[in-house]
Amino acid sequence: MANSFTRLMSGRNTAVLLASLGAGTMATGLLLSENNLAAEAKKKLYPPSSDFPDLRKHNNCMASALTPAIYSRLRDKVTPNNWTLDQCIQTGVDNPGHPFIKTVGCVAGDEESYEVFADLFDPVIKDRHNGYDPRTMIHPTDLDASKITSGMFDERYVLSSRVRTGRSIRGLSLPPACSRAERREVERVAVTALAGLKGDLAGRYYSLGDMTEHEQQQLIDDHFLFDKPVSPLLTCAFMARDWPDGRGIWHNNEKTFLIWINEEDHTRIISMEKGGNMKRVFERFCRGLKQVEQLIQERGWEFMWNEHLGYILTCPSNLGTGLRAGVHVRLPKLSKDARFSKILDNLRLQKRGTGGVDTAATGDTFDISNNDRLGKSEVRMLWWQYCMYFCPTAATPSSCVCVCVCVQVELVQLLIDGVNYLIECEKRLEKGQDIKVPAAIAQFRK
Ligand SMILES: *[C@@H]1O[C@H](CO)[C@@H](O)[C@H](O)[C@H]1NC(C)=O
Repeated sequence: MANSFTRLMSGRNTAVLLASLGAGTMATGLLLSENNLAAEAKKKLYPPSSDFPDLRKHNNCMASALTPAIYSRLRDKVTPNNWTLDQCIQTGVDNPGHPFIKTVGCVAGDEESYEVFADLFDPVIKDRHNGYDPRTMIHPTDLDASKITSGMFDERYVLSSRVRTGRSIRGLSLPPACSRAERREVERVAVTALAGLKGDLAGRYYSLGDMTEHEQQQLIDDHFLFDKPVSPLLTCAFMARDWPDGRGIWHNNEKTFLIWINEEDHTRIISMEKGGNMKRVFERFCRGLKQVEQLIQERGWEFMWNEHLGYILTCPSNLGTGLRAGVHVRLPKLSKDARFSKILDNLRLQKRGTGGVDTAATGDTFDISNNDRLGKSEVRMLWWQYCMYFCPTAATPSSCVCVCVCVQVELVQLLIDGVNYLIECEKRLEKGQDIKVPAAIAQFRK
């Protein structure tokens, strides 16, 4: 995996990057390295054993994986952007987590973080991705929407459908580590590329800093707007710096294809619509994603990707496809059945009550106490936030359940089959018939 350094350093991207950065960047760079030098000097005064964080009360993947031996091997290493192990783990050190909610506890500052600090990230990835070994396993990418079957849900139950993923632009630091100049460069690269989308995908960009009151209200009404990150999981990962500089939302004119710029990842790409046509949502997602990638490549950039980790994103839990597919589905009877949780578990689905649109609008974005053992990471909590944003106002909160799928293989089909099963159960319960808990789905099927 060491060769991605070489690729990065010798690629044309470097030239583009250097050519497009002005004097302001140089100043930021200098300041950063001065800070780093000071931090470096201070570290050398103490051995790593004196610097090892107190993780005794912690429940996160980082704390489970980080041993004094790994820490002393990695503490003084830096990525080519001078990002350190301590910066990767700060969020997990500062947020011990909830006894029942195991968070991830570390973030990458750049693509190379996953290589330079592999001794930490590899076990974290293995823990978080149910045994996936990034050293030996190869990540499949399959964006062929024609393979989807039964993708049309019964719309008496499914109120909305969506698929989302993230993509990062190679050669630029990730949100925890980026300078202002890099963040603005991400925005410029993405928005320039998106301007090339045509037909039903054509749309426009709304910068969070520049939008009018009217535009802001419209985005709030559409549940498109993302808020300043206030969760300590994110602020302790340095992701709210300079807010709202460089952040914004792009959407197509039909409001079915949406891209967040510089939130937790460089880009978050979302396809969604009201109703139950998941096949169409996924088809648009695949088509849009391919076109965005092509437009970015035409301008000399590319997404961060390698065959072991798939698409590289800020949080290790999102590596791979980075894909989450979800629906809002009404299950008034099944959700009151004692077997509901077990059924979801076995289908590898997770649920969140939608809690009502009002809570999202007033900034109470999510209620962590509602997170049961199904909720394992900050990213799932964030997804809960998306669920609330996308909950149609017409839905009765008590009967509207957001279901999200969280595995890495055959994701969309898994969600479709699972949701169809849930709807079948709901219909059987309506008729007073019995339901069965399905057999558990294995994680890495051949
Ligand atoms: C990293 O830090 C070193 C010295 O500490 C400095 O020479 C180098 O320019 C820095 N690199 C970047 C990308 O800031």
